[in-house]
Amino acid sequence: MSSGLFISFEGIDGAGKSTHIDSLAQAFRAQGRVVTLTREPGGTPLAERLRQMVLNDPMDAMTEALLVFAARRDHVQTVILPALARGDVLLCDRFTDATFAYQGAGRGFDWETLAVLEAWVQGRAADGATAATAVVLQPHLTIWFDLPPQVAAERLSTARVPDKFESQPLAFFEKVASGYARRMDADVGRFARINADQTPAQVWQDVLQAVQSKGLLTP
Ligand code: TYD
Repeated sequence: MSSGLFISFEGIDGAGKSTHIDSLAQAFRAQGRVVTLTREPGGTPLAERLRQMVLNDPMDAMTEALLVFAARRDHVQTVILPALARGDVLLCDRFTDATFAYQGAGRGFDWETLAVLEAWVQGRAADGATAATAVVLQPHLTIWFDLPPQVAAERLSTARVPDKFESQPLAFFEKVASGYARRMDADVGRFARINADQTPAQVWQDVLQAVQSKGLLTP
């Protein structure tokens, strides 16, 4: 991955990631870093088309999982790996933890099968490595905006027309949140869990603190 830095942002719908992603991009640029801002599902013309389907068309959980991983494959190959090879700071609005949280915990698709797809799609096999021994691309840091689903639902009720996921009931987001917790438990060092039930200014301070304490941004 050379000198590139890969940070992903996660949370249930309504957790309020967007403004902080933009602010963090500004903070890195102010220190002379080149920033690539991207999102999932999406980030390439093909993946953006798949995003429209995933967010709007009814489909079973396996189809959803396969489409988000197809989108991810194109995104990893054509945007993420080249940006990291250039040494960019790559800020990605959602990545694979969202698939485990939404398709896995939320919609009940098999967790182990998702892990196999993750290894396939993000595996970068060295010479002679099999899928099982290949290095699996992961963000260096994942910032999880953790917000009680009830609070998120109140925030979303005043927002724009909801998409397929945003219109899910509270119980769905409780499951999604538990999926994020399970992913964090399996890889604690990669995660910074931010209490998103605070003012935007307080949340921003916590985001900045999380990135600085990992030594990724100088205070
Ligand atoms: P989101 O990132 O919240 O974008 P916006 O702010 O424009 O609504 O929307 C993406 C939605 O896609 C969100 O509801 C989560 C869902 N999603 C999945 O279900 N699986 C995935 O793997 C990813 C990346 C997202």
